Amino acid sequence: MIKQAIIPLAGQGTRLLPLTSVLPKELLPINGKPGIEYILDECIDAGINEVIFIISKKKEMIKKYFYSDELYKKIIKKKKDKRILAEYKKILKYRKMIKFVYQNRPNGTGDAVLKTKKFIKDDYFLMLLPDDLIINKNCSKDMILVHNKFKTAVMASMKVNKKNVDRWGIYSVKSKINKNNFYIKDVVEKPNKNNSPSNNAIIGRYILPKKIFTKLINQKKGKGGEIHITDSIRRLILEGKEFIGHEFKGKYLDCGTMSGYLKSSNEMSKL
Ligand code: G1P
Repeated sequence: MIKQAIIPLAGQGTRLLPLTSVLPKELLPINGKPGIEYILDECIDAGINEVIFIISKKKEMIKKYFYSDELYKKIIKKKKDKRILAEYKKILKYRKMIKFVYQNRPNGTGDAVLKTKKFIKDDYFLMLLPDDLIINKNCSKDMILVHNKFKTAVMASMKVNKKNVDRWGIYSVKSKINKNNFYIKDVVEKPNKNNSPSNNAIIGRYILPKKIFTKLINQKKGKGGEIHITDSIRRLILEGKEFIGHEFKGKYLDCGTMSGYLKSSNEMSKL
């Protein structure tokens, strides 16, 4: 059973400046709702009961968002506004399942995952990267079904334009399981388009084995001087650990860039 999820939230959000100069990107509204709430709703609907937020001192505003009781209580007492009461209840519901850990240096996604080591209870856990929203279908839920069936690690994937492979983790296929699921042969972080093994990109949903920590603990810096989760996943795969690439059915929205962010709001408003 996958019951825990982790969400790396310590990124600096430079691709969304100036919007992120004061506000964490995960609190920016997408069609009137902070991006992080879409991610939490996906977790809840997928049966997750604990979510670990990896934040930094610079992003404590995220914590504050879930701990503004005084403000809510004062306003609810004064105004008896049903909408505000409902919003407060929703915040309390989220808060019950959230734990916070800190990654104060921006050393990469692998380093962020390592910060959650002592909190992970089961053999597998879910990771969601908040820049990646997937609509129309709950990708995490579908991946959990795949995990339950094959008892392996799973990563969300989609085919991307060959020109853009250097934006993603890219994997090659060992064998096809069915139309949407593939055993992975190898994976590489943001390859050059001339030597990319394929155009199968990893999107920000992962079901990772607890074993990943044995690699992360001594993972060397990779592309751009960061510690990448992809590099530790690669070491596990090359040792024979099975990973499935799951081509998800929903629609992908890239909220981590300005053009993607603007498009996301527009797409969400059509739902
Ligand atoms: C991260 C991963 C990359 C993956 C991508 C999905 O990159 O390192 O392998 O394809 O997320 O969004 P980032 O978006 O942090 O540059």
